[in-house]
Amino acid sequence: MNCLYAKILDDLYYIGANDRQTPLFENMWPLPEGVSYNAYLIRDEKTALLDTVRINKVDGFIGKVLEVLEGRTLDYLVIHHMEPDHSGCIRDILELFPDLTFVGNKKTKTMLYDFLEITPDDNKFIEVKDGDTLDLGKRKLNFVMTPMVHWPESMVSYEPTDKVLFSQDIFGGFGTVDGAIFDDQADYNIFRSETRRYYSNIVGKYSMMAVKALDKLSKIDIDIICPVHGFVWRENPQTIIDDYKKWANHEVEDGVVITYGSMYGNTEAMADYLATFLAREGVKNIKVFDVSKTHASYILNEIWKYKCMILGSATYDNSVYPNMYNLLNVLRYNKLKNHIMGVFGSYGWSGGAVKQLTAFMEEGKFEKLETIVESRGTMHKEEENQLRKLAKEIATKLKEN
Ligand code: FEO
Repeated sequence: MNCLYAKILDDLYYIGANDRQTPLFENMWPLPEGVSYNAYLIRDEKTALLDTVRINKVDGFIGKVLEVLEGRTLDYLVIHHMEPDHSGCIRDILELFPDLTFVGNKKTKTMLYDFLEITPDDNKFIEVKDGDTLDLGKRKLNFVMTPMVHWPESMVSYEPTDKVLFSQDIFGGFGTVDGAIFDDQADYNIFRSETRRYYSNIVGKYSMMAVKALDKLSKIDIDIICPVHGFVWRENPQTIIDDYKKWANHEVEDGVVITYGSMYGNTEAMADYLATFLAREGVKNIKVFDVSKTHASYILNEIWKYKCMILGSATYDNSVYPNMYNLLNVLRYNKLKNHIMGVFGSYGWSGGAVKQLTAFMEEGKFEKLETIVESRGTMHKEEENQLRKLAKEIATKLKEN
């Protein structure tokens, strides 16, 4: 039935599902390692389900909800976030427990109708604001609004007795939970890159709001983090807090990501020469990507990590290579910060690509590299020397930073 179940604390349960079938998250981002949808259930004087899972996992999910409830009814359904990977089973839960009371904020209520055409009676929807509390008996939930991380209605809740934060998408990542539901049961280093790919592609463009949310949450004493994707953090929650702070604040590491678009290998050769010259200059952490082969989400993930971004493009119809154009759009709306940037490229008979890449570099908030290399046809000795010069400039800049 593919729904996982684990006791986190007395009367607090993890109920989540692994999804290895869905190929693309939000129908855009590849999921080679799958993804988990996490939900939680509290049994107290009142019972509360915290979020649901994507609709494709409804059967197992409903089974586990019933199993954990052990014959009790469901009093509350807390909706931290309305994106369908978490709200997908709300209708099914409501059918089973028609007397339940929804808990959400003002925007949640609107979205409940917009997405699911559910209009609860006023006495069946508790509208919470920042600082409001829901009393469950021995436990309580305190609500903190985290708007635009990454939807307008996004909010988290905090259970103060056991210091548990239910953090919705915040602190989540791609990848299924393979047996290990808790951080102490697995090696997070294996999952860190997929967690950062999730952050950079799903949350990254809202980093300013993420910084505000993380600042709010830093005032709370947290022992356990229960996000809606990835591990439950009970041993080292500070690890994921530190990672999220770093990514939201655009803190970057030394390294160079070279991404090129090439039809017949001329621009690709320039990328490889540049990478070689960089290594000779002593630069570590050099990554080279073919924009036609590697999905933009992986390229963005690496660019989010490393300080220097170099883009190279062949000219196509007097313009930038189409697949590179797509990457430029992804980079543009993610509002990168703290990056050094440089460009190179080639053309057959009239240019265009390097001009466009340079315009992109000029419009962004980048530390720009002066050496721009453009080759007519194949790379000649002159361009080779220019690439050597660009490598030296990059190495110097990285040392200065
Ligand atoms: Fe995991 Fe924004 O939904």
